[in-house]
Amino acid sequence: MLTKEVYRMTQTLSPAPRTAPGPRGKFLVGNLFDSRQSGLLDYHVKAWHAHGDVVRFQMGPITLIQVVRPEHIQQVLVGNAKNYVKGLSHENLRRTIGDGILTAEGEAWQRQRRLMAPTYTPKGVAQFADIMGDATRKLLAGWEARGTTQPVMINQEMMQVTMSVISRSMFGLDIGEHFKETGDGLRYLLQHVSERGLSSVDWPAWVPTESNRRLKNAVRVVDDFLYGVIRERRRNGLGEDLLSLLMTAKDAETGAEMSERQLRDEVLITFFAGHETTAQTLTWTWAMLAQQPEVERKLWDEIDRVLAGRSPTLDDVGALTYTRQVIDETLRLYSPVAVMARDTVAADEIGGYSVAPGNLILLLPFMTHRHPEFWEQPDVFNPDHFMPERVKDRPRYAYVPFGAGARSCLGVHFALLEAVLILAETAQRYRIRLADPNQELEFDWAGTLRPKGDLPMLLTRR
Ligand code: HEM
Repeated sequence: MLTKEVYRMTQTLSPAPRTAPGPRGKFLVGNLFDSRQSGLLDYHVKAWHAHGDVVRFQMGPITLIQVVRPEHIQQVLVGNAKNYVKGLSHENLRRTIGDGILTAEGEAWQRQRRLMAPTYTPKGVAQFADIMGDATRKLLAGWEARGTTQPVMINQEMMQVTMSVISRSMFGLDIGEHFKETGDGLRYLLQHVSERGLSSVDWPAWVPTESNRRLKNAVRVVDDFLYGVIRERRRNGLGEDLLSLLMTAKDAETGAEMSERQLRDEVLITFFAGHETTAQTLTWTWAMLAQQPEVERKLWDEIDRVLAGRSPTLDDVGALTYTRQVIDETLRLYSPVAVMARDTVAADEIGGYSVAPGNLILLLPFMTHRHPEFWEQPDVFNPDHFMPERVKDRPRYAYVPFGAGARSCLGVHFALLEAVLILAETAQRYRIRLADPNQELEFDWAGTLRPKGDLPMLLTRR
């Protein structure tokens, strides 16, 4: 009788989860040093090809589980999101730029998201379209003045224009142009965060290394500026910028406003999250267009038809559908946020493999977006991947450049509006070519996915 009962029970249970496969590691350190040697992203891509869609790594004491399938992304970021939090994996980021919406958890995060969300709706960001257009025209005027015989470093140019957009949207002034020391401090801080954000081996902040000294100095300069602007606003009244919106935002439940420290952290996080990502997207877009004359021709056709020589405005964005597909396709192949991380709270199972509390989950849009099961010719840059009928046929979480679920990108509408306006205005006036047509486009993964080194490109007036 008992045996029958046990037999029946075992039939209703699913098979016990197994340990996910992964590369063999070394004694004590596991895969830590091997992954550093071959370039981190490259190492993870090779492991995907060798071991499949769920891979386990041992990085010293930390067990890391890499997932790439849409349904697993759904599970971690949406379905069972409460089990996967921004814990230790975000500690470096928290230490450097503070505990704002990007890094906070639980109640603290919910409150900040509630406060900030209304500012970033499609309607909310529309007010920044003029700044985006104006910053682009200023960039192009600079090109005009400089002439087109010498190449420009397109990555630096795109960083400059997106920095100008975010700082003018935030404060109504261009930090890079008018506050050189603050601009340099901010750039250093953001670069430091990008490069160290995912590093698990770092000197503590109190050790007087050269990089810690420079970091401390940058934080001081940036803080002096940010607290100065916040106090100046309190004294002299608010303007019509993001900072003013954040300063007046009241929690719908408690009616509370943000403290000075919270405002400072949120401003810094907006700079961090919202300027380099868009700059990298545009940089990769220029590199792709230079290599794909057919795509470039289709883009020009649309821009010339819709704009007929005018500068694009907010009202044109809906008609610039191919322009948007070009941006979507860049975000597929070169997602600036190529990797997202979460810490596991309680035991779970992903794709039949066991996940234990404390395991670090790595979600890799870089691979999800190139997964042959979900993308036709995944390695080819082809904006037709985003024709509406093709989008409809794909699993929703096969494309996640802005993350997914409650923690998805707050600035998605801001970023897409900015990228489309800058691309349309610039491509209308210039043809942009690689200075060395044979240049191999290698990427570097340091927080965001960027081209390795500078990307010199030649401009020709259209
Ligand atoms: C092409 C440009 C951008 C890309 C690809 C991008 C991508 C992402 C991704 C993937 C996440 C989720 C990270 C995770 O789940 O671990 C995220 C979060 C976030 N992004 Fe963006 N982003 C971009 C632009 C922006 C802009 C322009 C802003 C603000 C102006 C912004 C603000 C934020 C914030 C505040 C979060 C945290 C949201 C939360 O945790 O509630 N991003 N972004």
